[in-house]
Amino acid sequence: MNYVIVYWSHYGNGKKLVEHLAATLKAKGADTQVLRTDEANPASLPPADAYVFSAPAEAMNLQVNMRSFMKKLNGMAGKKYGIINTHGMKKNRLAKMEKLLSKKDMVKLAEIDFLVGDGTQTGNGLPTGWEAAMNCFADKLIT
Ligand SMILES: Cc1cc2nc3c(=O)[nH]c(=O)nc-3n(C[C@H](O)[C@H](O)[C@H](O)COP(=O)(O)O)c2cc1C
Repeated sequence: MNYVIVYWSHYGNGKKLVEHLAATLKAKGADTQVLRTDEANPASLPPADAYVFSAPAEAMNLQVNMRSFMKKLNGMAGKKYGIINTHGMKKNRLAKMEKLLSKKDMVKLAEIDFLVGDGTQTGNGLPTGWEAAMNCFADKLIT
């Protein structure tokens, strides 16, 4: 399996998640590529068996770089995806991510969100047990 993981992270919590995910998938024999939104071209992402998108909630919405990236995706019909969202308030932004990707006719495999807490601004706000939760998420991406 081959995965392309695209993320945006302000404080580093989301970066930690995608790095853990990439290492987990690699340990299962997969090829992975991790790219920030500004390192990838949404109109021509590298080929992959599945794509993962990860971003925080910001300003009562999905973070703007990821929102704009998803709107510009092209040629992704039928491609599989997983989504990751971190958020500081109760409401997660997974539905927004799914809405944008369903407009591209992509097919959801898995989703996960984390309510970040103390330590968020130093990248240490993920809740206890996040690694195990991410491992379950990784299992759902392996089809
Ligand atoms: C400018 C800014 C605006 C934010 N607005 C929201 C928000 O509207 N709702 C929310 O749940 N969290 C909000 N947050 C908290 C972020 O979701 C949280 O810091 C982020 O998930 C941490 O992930 P990161 O370390 O990958 O950036 C905001 C954070 C920043 C920096």
